[in-house]
Amino acid sequence: MSLDAYRITSEPYYQPHGDEIEIFRAAYDERLPVMLKGPTGCGKTRFVEHMAWRLGRPLITVAAHEDMTAADLAGRYLLEPEGTVWHDGPLTQAVRQGAICYLDEIVEARQDTTVVIHPLTDARRVLPLEKHNEIVSAHADFQLTISYNPGYQSAVKDLKESTKQRFLAIDFSYPPPQVESAIVTRESGADAALADVLVAIGQRSRNLQGHGLDEGASTRMLIHAGRLVRGGLPLATAVQSSIVLPITDNPDVRAALRAAIDACMP
Ligand SMILES: Nc1ncnc2c1ncn2[C@@H]1O[C@H](COP(=O)(O)OP(=O)(O)OP(=O)(O)O)[C@@H](O)[C@H]1O
Ligand SMILES: [Mg+2]
Repeated sequence: MSLDAYRITSEPYYQPHGDEIEIFRAAYDERLPVMLKGPTGCGKTRFVEHMAWRLGRPLITVAAHEDMTAADLAGRYLLEPEGTVWHDGPLTQAVRQGAICYLDEIVEARQDTTVVIHPLTDARRVLPLEKHNEIVSAHADFQLTISYNPGYQSAVKDLKESTKQRFLAIDFSYPPPQVESAIVTRESGADAALADVLVAIGQRSRNLQGHGLDEGASTRMLIHAGRLVRGGLPLATAVQSSIVLPITDNPDVRAALRAAIDACMP
């Protein structure tokens, strides 16, 4: 199977706000596995797309979920008219052909699934396919990146120590205001004044984190609000439906958020 469909041909816009590009590049040069840690909507997926483009590698993304099995990653036999045929899973394709494999929300996967990446992410760099009776050595260009949101994992849903300790980590958080404003402008088409208001709203909402909100409004939410305003909705309506209503169902927290937002309104 060709990985052409997984090649990123035009530059995904990514605004750096630390040394994340240099760290990822250094990790990739050594083919070390990387864990991107940070809250929802702060740019982890966009970053890995951007890095795959920079490094000229195809990117295979797999969204982890609790029903995911090792076969969903590695592959399985399927019954076809000519008999049972082995099909490589997305991880195996990346390993054989030298792609970057991005396992999104790794904590969602059960620990017995997560261990399939262990021999790949230590000095062995191999993927054993027990069912296929094969041990695949990783292509020289293969690299594994995972994402992890430290905010909402519970004690039962944490990575095994032996998984964690295989990875380098890059911490992601929301960018500083001027940078976030530039991102909101670029991604939503909002003008600079509107972007500044939305970023101020984002910051106020993040202050409510731990006071009723699990997480404040993400950069993604601010971009949604900007797009609605660009589309013609009044700012208050746009903010209500893109930030206040999605983020909490609790009436008291909504009221507190509303008050914080009103304080930012032009
Ligand atoms: N530094 C950045 N440069 C460019 N765009 C950004 C940046 N940070 C966030 N964005 C914008 O925010 C949106 C959300 O980011 P992204 O999807 O990468 O978040 P995420 O961290 O992967 O979230 P989740 O954990 O929910 O998957 C992107 O589509 C992009 O428009
Ligand atoms: Mg993501």
